[in-house]
Amino acid sequence: MHHDQKILILDFGSQYTQLIARRIRESRVYCEIHPCTVGIDRIRSYAPQGIVLSGGPASVYDPEAPTVSAEVFELGVPVLGICYGMQLMTHLLGGRVARGLKREYGLAHITVDEAQGPLTGFRPGETLPVWMSHADRIEAMPPGFRALAHTENSPVAAMGHEGRPWYGVQFHPEVVHTPRGSEMLEAFLFDVCGCEPTWTMGSFIEATVREIRETVGDRRVICALSGGVDSSVVALLLHRALGAQLTCIFVDNGLLRKGEAEKVVRTFRHHFHLNLLHVDAADLFLERLDGVTDPEQKRKIIGNEFIYLFEREARKLGDVEFLAQGTLYPDVIESVSFKGPSATIKSHHNVGGLPERMNLKLVEPLRELFKDEVREVGRELGLPEEIIERHPFPGPGLAIRILGEVTRARLEVLREADAIVREEILREGLHRSVWQAFCVLLPVKTVGVMGDERTYEHVVAVRSVNSVDGMTADWSRLPYELLGRISNRIINEVEGVNRVVYDISSKPPATIEWE
Ligand code: XMP
Repeated sequence: MHHDQKILILDFGSQYTQLIARRIRESRVYCEIHPCTVGIDRIRSYAPQGIVLSGGPASVYDPEAPTVSAEVFELGVPVLGICYGMQLMTHLLGGRVARGLKREYGLAHITVDEAQGPLTGFRPGETLPVWMSHADRIEAMPPGFRALAHTENSPVAAMGHEGRPWYGVQFHPEVVHTPRGSEMLEAFLFDVCGCEPTWTMGSFIEATVREIRETVGDRRVICALSGGVDSSVVALLLHRALGAQLTCIFVDNGLLRKGEAEKVVRTFRHHFHLNLLHVDAADLFLERLDGVTDPEQKRKIIGNEFIYLFEREARKLGDVEFLAQGTLYPDVIESVSFKGPSATIKSHHNVGGLPERMNLKLVEPLRELFKDEVREVGRELGLPEEIIERHPFPGPGLAIRILGEVTRARLEVLREADAIVREEILREGLHRSVWQAFCVLLPVKTVGVMGDERTYEHVVAVRSVNSVDGMTADWSRLPYELLGRISNRIINEVEGVNRVVYDISSKPPATIEWE
């Protein structure tokens, strides 16, 4: 997509690089992350309004230290170096970086010396909490630079050139632990680079709809709709652009949560009037899963069956040329990401697969968006809040939450218990703070007592975790009253369950799902 104004972030391998991009986008300026190895010609033709050099784990004197051509300083474009980016800037422009003997890590306080560049808008003498994470430090600034801020330990916590728009900060303005970091980035974007806050989801939708029409013309597109937020937003965007040229295929594997399949059909067919093919394949999936207990085998069977059915339905439609996919920006970054001294190319599971098999061209309208932006687009397009705020749900569905064999009866038990957990979490107002909350049906029976009778029934485990990206997670400290209510309701309302336990394991070493 064409962007009038954009910021280029050169990645030197910091774990925070994506956060820089998110903060800049939150300030309504479009930006992209590219590996530092991208080459000066590409940088020039990209024509950014400003360049940010990210942090990174290396030391500029390492033999394999990632670097960038010093020509980035000759493009007439403002440059902001963050942490390693500042050290590299110092190194390339003739200053001296000293190997730090001690790592400075954690909260520090800078005192503003000059309110310039990223510190425009602050007062000289003002003290601000910031997040540090570095070992090396600036021993001598390059010629023409002045310190803009200092800390107790380092005389140069931020620096700026006297005549050129080059700035460096030793701390990380992009992390939440630098509470006023967004103001600093905005000062760079708006005051130094002269950007305008024009990147809005309204403008994104308008431009994307135009672009989809240009690419697709009067040809036809198919899209796999799962009911999750990404595929839902893709479907609505394409529908807005193409109307009846779009057909969505919803493969209902019978492994969804209570009421979910009906909701997908109601929302997209009846409310948004999309061409929706509802492939009710519950029987088929259950048949294929008959007697299967191994988690990986379950995944494989479900994945293969999905592809088979999707292809079969697509073939029936005839002359389709495009397949729409909900690839997001983090997937794109990950596939070209810069990690350590060599660029590693990794192909993501979302990219590839179906389109090659089916000989279809790809349409990926969310390729430039972060998840938060996808949600915003969804809201603008009128998607119901319950889909926008839906918790992540695994592709293999409830099959990997039923330990052991998946049967219709066990699915029914799990579905009812799971619905209670979701309802209670929602009622408690915890839906948004919790990453995922669900039930797992265990393959054991325990003894209980109900009235005068002994029972011998199933155990349900409740799992609720807090997380930012699903890579690590901690179990949610749910209020005891809530846990009590969940347990009571499940045991009273779900036939076949006489015991409820709460999973208090963190990831790692436990995973979020049990299989
Ligand atoms: P784990 O269990 O690995 O889960 O800690 C991390 C996140 O990934 C989801 N998950 C899956 N999603 N297919 C998917 O589409 C899968 O096979 C799968 N396994 C786990 C899980 O729900 C959590 O959000």
